[in-house]
Amino acid sequence: MKEDFLKAMQFRHACKVFDEGKKIPDEHLRFILEAGRLSPSSFGLEHWRFIVVRTQELKERLKEACFNQVQLTTCSDAVAIAAKVEDLRPGSEYVETRFACYADRPDVLAWVRKFYADFYSGIDVRQWSITQCHIAAANMMTAAAFVGIDSCPIGGLSAPKVMEALGLDHAKYDVALIVPFGYRLNPQPPKHRLAFDDVVEFR
Ligand SMILES: Cc1cc2nc3c(=O)[nH]c(=O)nc-3n(C[C@H](O)[C@H](O)[C@H](O)COP(=O)(O)O)c2cc1C
Repeated sequence: MKEDFLKAMQFRHACKVFDEGKKIPDEHLRFILEAGRLSPSSFGLEHWRFIVVRTQELKERLKEACFNQVQLTTCSDAVAIAAKVEDLRPGSEYVETRFACYADRPDVLAWVRKFYADFYSGIDVRQWSITQCHIAAANMMTAAAFVGIDSCPIGGLSAPKVMEALGLDHAKYDVALIVPFGYRLNPQPPKHRLAFDDVVEFR
């Protein structure tokens, strides 16, 4: 129902510190990741790789790479979203497997290949890939809120340090965002948003 969805949207906030004693049940974590997996992406290229960080040692390294934000060490699980880069090259094996859904329509496949190659040549690929990952992150945070789980998008990070901690190759990936999930320790602060009419216009 609409009310349940809006309740989740109101419940979600950028949680600054989690209750270290509370762990997310596996079933809920999988539900959250599923919301990420089912997210829309440009050309259907599913630009993301979700790395679930559970060990305290790795959480500590991420915290250090994220300006010592304590969300990283107090959370139950932190999902680092790596944005694909190398795989997105036109004609790559990865792109071709994603475009295989057009295999039974060779004319469409040829058109999509050409359209994608033209599109690709005119964009900042890393930034484009990161943008897609942010959509998956938003869906995961909303899904989490729907089952009473808190989150905080962490964009305040040193990408090279995060990449090093996670063993990610710069040629292949970039870091889109890290999203720690868990349960709030403190009450939620008031939500500040512009009024509906300040952000919406009908034409
Ligand atoms: C891309 C992105 C990066 C963010 N990075 C951080 C961050 O590094 N640390 C943090 O505490 N909050 C971060 N935030 C959370 C925002 O500050 C927060 O969503 C905003 O102030 C609105 O507050 P609310 O989410 O609690 O309603 C980030 C949000 C987004 C969308």
